[in-house]
Amino acid sequence: MLEIHLDDSDIDRELRADVTTGLTAAGKWLPPKWFYDARGSELFEQITRLPEYYPTRTERSILASHALEFARITEAKTLIELGSGSSEKTRILLDALLQRGTLGSFVPLDVSDAALEEAVAGLAVDYPGLTVRGVVGDMTRHLHHIPDGDNRVVAFLGGTIGNLAPAERAAFLGNLRGVLHEGEWLLLGTDLVKDPAVVVPAYDDAAGVTAEFNRNVLRVINRRLAADFDVDAFAHVALWNAEQEWIEMRLRATTAQHVQVRELGLTVDFAAGEEMRTEISAKFRQAGLAAELSQAGFALRHWWTDPDGLFGVSLAQAVATS
Ligand code: SAH
Ligand code: AVI
Repeated sequence: MLEIHLDDSDIDRELRADVTTGLTAAGKWLPPKWFYDARGSELFEQITRLPEYYPTRTERSILASHALEFARITEAKTLIELGSGSSEKTRILLDALLQRGTLGSFVPLDVSDAALEEAVAGLAVDYPGLTVRGVVGDMTRHLHHIPDGDNRVVAFLGGTIGNLAPAERAAFLGNLRGVLHEGEWLLLGTDLVKDPAVVVPAYDDAAGVTAEFNRNVLRVINRRLAADFDVDAFAHVALWNAEQEWIEMRLRATTAQHVQVRELGLTVDFAAGEEMRTEISAKFRQAGLAAELSQAGFALRHWWTDPDGLFGVSLAQAVATS
C-alpha cells in the first residue's frame, strides 16, 4: 500500500513549471528528479551494477561492516528512507535492526511511484512481520508527511544528497532537522572527493547506460508534455568541475535543434553544440560535511568509510538548536 502525496496532476504541474523555467533560462537546465520514471529508475538500477560505478557497491560494503553497530547505537523503532528507489542496500539495515529487536516499521519515500511500488511489494514478501508504509512524495517538499514517533532514524543513501545544489541541500537539511526530535538520527551516504580519473568514468560508462539515463529526461518530457525532442540528437556529457567538486551531467545538442513542447505552447531552440545541465553530483569531504550538518542542527557522531576512502557514511544526531 502506498500513500500518495504527489499524484499525477501534482507531477504535471511541477514538471511544467520546471521545464518552463529550465528551458527558457539563459543557460538551459533541468532538475535531476525528472530522470526517474519507471524506465529511468530501471536504468539507475543498471548503473548501480556497472563496473565503473563504484558508489553503490562501496556503500553496500560499508553498511554491511557497520550495520550491527548502527543498530546497537540507534535502536531504531522506525526507519525512514528518503529517495529510497529499490531499497536494496537498506535491507542490510532492516536485518540488523530486526536482529536487535527494536524495529517496528519502515517508511520508504520516493518520487518514483514505479520504483516504490516494486520495492514495497518485495519487502512485504520478505519481511512479513514489518509494517512497510511507502510514501510517494518529494523529499524537498513533503518531509512533514513522515510519520511522527520516537526513536526514528532517517536514512538517505546512495549519495543522492549530492544531487541537490548547495542552497537546496542546506534548506533540505534544515527542513529535515525541523521534523525530527532531538536525539533522533540521520544516516547519510555521501560520495567523496577523489581522483577525477575514477569519478568521471562512473558517470560516462563504456556500455552507455548513463548516457541513456541522462537522455531519459527528454523522453519523459516528450511523453508527459507532448514535446518532440529528437532524443538521439543529444549527446551525453559528464564533466568534473574541480572548483565546485562536483560532476556535471549535461546533454549537448549535436546539431541545431528546434523543439516544440506542445502542452506548454513553448518552442525552444538549441544551437549546434549547446549544452543543457541535467544533474550535479557533488562529492564531499568529511570536514565540510560535518560543518553542513552542524549548521542544520545535526552532530556528526560516527563516520564510516571504505579502506580506499571512496565513499562515506555518516551517522548524525539531531541536537538542540538555539
Ligand atoms: N537510495 C537508492 C536510490 C538512489 S537513486 C540507492 O542508494 O541506490 C535516487 C532516488 O531518489 C531515485 O529513486 C529517485 O526517484 C529519488 N528521488 C530523486 N529526487 C527526489 C525527490 N526530490 N524526492 C524524493 N525522491 C527523489
Ligand atoms: C542517485 N544519484 C546519487 C546518482 C549519482 O551518482 O549522482 C545518480 C546518477 N547519475 C548518473 N549516474 C548516477
